[in-house]
Amino acid sequence: MIRRVLLLRHALPGRRTLSTTTTTTLPVVPFELEENSEIQILKRVQETPHPILANPTVVAEAVKKPSIQATDDQLTTWLTGPCGFRTEVAAEYLRVLRQDGFDSPASIAMLSVDELERRRVRTGHARQLLARVDDLLVADADASSPSSTGTRLFDYETIVANLTVRDAIEAVEEAFGKLAKGQVDVPLPMHIGIDETDDYGPGDCHIKGGYVSGSPTWTVKLACVSFYKNLDRGLPPGSGVFVVMDAKTGATLGIFQENRYLTDLRTGAAGALGVKYCARPEDSSVGFVGCGAIARNMARATFAVKPDFEGIAYAPDDSAHAFAKDMEAELSVPFHVVPTAHELCRRSDVIFTQTPGSDPVLELRWLRPHATIIASGSDQPTKQEIPVDVLVHSKYIADLKKQTSRVGELRSAIAAGAMSEASVHAELGEIINGDKLGREADELVVLDLTGTGAQDAAIGQVAWDKLSKL
Ligand SMILES: NC(=O)c1ccc[n+]([C@@H]2O[C@H](COP(=O)([O-])OP(=O)(O)OC[C@H]3O[C@@H](n4cnc5c(N)ncnc54)[C@H](O)[C@@H]3O)[C@@H](O)[C@H]2O)c1
Repeated sequence: MIRRVLLLRHALPGRRTLSTTTTTTLPVVPFELEENSEIQILKRVQETPHPILANPTVVAEAVKKPSIQATDDQLTTWLTGPCGFRTEVAAEYLRVLRQDGFDSPASIAMLSVDELERRRVRTGHARQLLARVDDLLVADADASSPSSTGTRLFDYETIVANLTVRDAIEAVEEAFGKLAKGQVDVPLPMHIGIDETDDYGPGDCHIKGGYVSGSPTWTVKLACVSFYKNLDRGLPPGSGVFVVMDAKTGATLGIFQENRYLTDLRTGAAGALGVKYCARPEDSSVGFVGCGAIARNMARATFAVKPDFEGIAYAPDDSAHAFAKDMEAELSVPFHVVPTAHELCRRSDVIFTQTPGSDPVLELRWLRPHATIIASGSDQPTKQEIPVDVLVHSKYIADLKKQTSRVGELRSAIAAGAMSEASVHAELGEIINGDKLGREADELVVLDLTGTGAQDAAIGQVAWDKLSKL
């Protein structure tokens, strides 16, 4: 029989089943369950009456006076014996029974399944029983199903410790390939503005997501930025979560408190694909205009596909020096800081741009004829990094045409009347699929990366695959 039950799962301090300190079970989720584990546990308790209840007189008495007391020893013997719970589970269960007033075997064993369902919503006992469900020895509980494991929460430290950009490249490549075949459902990004009032805001929430056809999960992410009043509170102005959903049941599998780390990984992975598909094999000098968080991931990504490159860094502030020093130490390849973007372009075969501004950061006449520009800074309609004449003279490739025309570099060229969506040579996925050619000669190539929900879906799947096994 399929039963619809509302499970209120609560995290418990010291809960033993989730062995790392980094995962927690959240209070959530209406599920449709068949013979769910909690019910099985209750049935087991009911089908295994305590000796006190084996006596009909006592049962009759218990109905009238359900607080018939059993001693701790009696209850423990019953739980570890006929009910089959492990000693430590029985002890914990007993503690909970006592704490919540279920201090007799009658009071639990005489509850009907329906009554338990009703009561457990409002009793601490019931919630704690649910929270302990995977501690209990239920033979046929399916530990891999969301119904028995609940939604898992992964904190920032766990995510950072277990995922690198290298983990993301293959999945992001496949996602781009499917995106170009129309096999990824990617809605246009959504924006929620939190206007500033006395108590709240200002802030912005950007929502992206997608589903790659045939994948076990889909992902929605919320990137929260520009909460500037956080600085007065000693908090960063940005945060973010990925929500990974089960494509079979629609249940929430995992919430990743990634604070944009996963976004940085999937952005870097797209950069790696830019080097792989758009640059010449012999290219060796790689410039980074803008040396912040994205640049670091672009450097790591480059290393994953071209481990013998030389890095050149430019930023108008100190970040270039810290970037070069850290990347050189991490990747064991040389990095040089240059004083101008002009010099960087003059010396670079591949140029990554990842700046937040609205003014172009380079000029056409500075570029090597075979340069590959991988521009990822523009992800909003207010931003621009690449001058229109560079775009016009390039083989222009978009991550997603419908997006770059609104928030990417292509937007400025369209606004200037210099290009249209028809000017797009290809989307990245078409090149990955072999349907369009990438680089063909010593030509200027621009790859415009605005960040797609397909990448978010891909990194969400990777994160779930890897971290859910911890
Ligand atoms: N396309 C995507 O998928 C994607 C994903 C995440 C972030 N972004 C965007 O990438 C940009 C960079 O993000 P970040 O987190 O690395 O920022 P960040 O603040 O960490 O770093 C920005 C860097 O750009 C430098 N910079 C600023 N103006 C410059 C200029 N005129 N010339 C050269 N360098 C300049 C800064 O000195 C700094 O080094 C932002 O616009 C962000 O919104 C895009």
